[in-house]
Amino acid sequence: MLNLVLFGPPGAGKGTQALLLAQTFNLVHLSTGDLLRQEIAAKTDLGRIADEIISKGELVPDSIVISMIESKLKEPKTTVGFIFDGFPRTVPQAEALDELLARHQRKVSAMLCLDVVKEELIGRLLKRGLTSGRCDDMNAETIENRINVYNEKTAPIINYYEKQGKYYPIYGIGTVEEIAENLKQTVENI
Ligand code: C5P
Ligand code: MG
Repeated sequence: MLNLVLFGPPGAGKGTQALLLAQTFNLVHLSTGDLLRQEIAAKTDLGRIADEIISKGELVPDSIVISMIESKLKEPKTTVGFIFDGFPRTVPQAEALDELLARHQRKVSAMLCLDVVKEELIGRLLKRGLTSGRCDDMNAETIENRINVYNEKTAPIINYYEKQGKYYPIYGIGTVEEIAENLKQTVENI
């Protein structure tokens, strides 16, 4: 069973590469960002709360995203594994993921971290904002805040997985195909 965490700062290419990895290894793709955006589009109560937080570039409370993942893991599925994209975002979320997977006799196989420098991230996010329609991609202030939130609250997760021998850094600049190939080879050698 293969359960991958695809990690990295906003704009690192997690969404793009998660879809490719899901195809290559036949995994179910779970993106908390996509799930939250679905709630926003459906104008649910949760969507209204999430919209306000996301447009500021802040993080939705742990309890909310953890229960979203919990209900997805409960859905009966025959799958060889999952790829988590944009989750965990905090150390408590990483701990909760371990607990949730353990309940299903699963565990995280590897954390793949896409490394991209800040200047490149800002350029990519502003460019994406022109077509994605995502309000959090269009505003330079929100982008800056997302990167700061990543450095403060999300990056400490690296140490959490490093201690477990599950941290695999991947150079995140290059063509989509090149990065996909690096990720594939890394996963094949786990
Ligand atoms: O993962 P993605 O970049 O698509 O997430 C978009 C936004 O959703 C984040 O900037 C954050 O505001 C919110 N989010 C969150 N907690 C998560 C995943 C996403 O707060 N675990
Ligand atoms: Mg994403």
